[in-house]
Amino acid sequence: MKHILLIGIGPGDPDALTLAAIKGIRRTDVFFFLEKEGDGKDSLIRFRREILAEHAADRAYRVAAGASPKRDRASADYQGAVEDWRRRRTQVIADLIDGNMADGETGAFLLWGDPALYDGTMQNLHDLIAEGRDDITFEVIPGITCVQALTAKHRIPLNRVGEEIVITTGRQIETGDPATVTNSIVMLDSRDAYMRLRDRPDMDIFWGGDVGSPDEVLIAGPLDETADRISETIKAQRARKGWIMDTYVLRRRRAPDASGS
Ligand SMILES: C[S@@+](CC[C@H](N)C(=O)[O-])C[C@H]1O[C@@H](n2cnc3c(N)ncnc32)[C@H](O)[C@@H]1O
Repeated sequence: MKHILLIGIGPGDPDALTLAAIKGIRRTDVFFFLEKEGDGKDSLIRFRREILAEHAADRAYRVAAGASPKRDRASADYQGAVEDWRRRRTQVIADLIDGNMADGETGAFLLWGDPALYDGTMQNLHDLIAEGRDDITFEVIPGITCVQALTAKHRIPLNRVGEEIVITTGRQIETGDPATVTNSIVMLDSRDAYMRLRDRPDMDIFWGGDVGSPDEVLIAGPLDETADRISETIKAQRARKGWIMDTYVLRRRRAPDASGS
């Protein structure tokens, strides 16, 4: 058997690593690095190497890197392109395991934040096993998500009393009905999707760029007053270091007597 750990490593703050993650790192023989080309790749790999240097340095471990396949973002068939990308990524993972692990060994992926939130690796492993790979087992070690890091830094609860929590993408905010946004956590926004709601005078935003890292920037306030500042901050960070990871809460302000309590 080959045993794979999917270890959540938190969103970029070495102190956000859990004890379970550290214990997982200490029983791993080979770490798989599978970052996609482009924005932030070097920094993401450097962060993982620093974690290993700190927590696994006294052990003999190996690192095997694979090239994460590119998704066809120009395709008109969004679902088809995602499916194709998922299949190719599953194959890359199978090749990494086959080429670098002996029977009885433990391998690990150090996954950003938590493995269950906007990360396809868990599904890739389910697909592999469904295809008949009965020599592979895997387990998931949860991590602190960027959402938890963001709400902690802004010192806000994820929801007000009795309220739903929607976790969504910039793409959905861009294309969905703005009237339905009451308490949405937005991730994977590369196109300033919050701008679409900026004319709504009842909307607050709690925004964070590279939360938990030395480059962290936090901005909060009424969306109509802060949207331009957020956009300029994103541009400045991209100009300075080439990339930024940001997440934000869009929250419709409630009248004081409508708290739901
Ligand atoms: C592919 S998802 C991975 C999320 C990760 N699994 C988690 O649990 O946080 C990447 C997105 O997460 C958000 N993100 C990740 N790290 C972040 C950070 N340190 N600060 C702000 N947003 C972050 C950004 O929206 C980014 O586009």
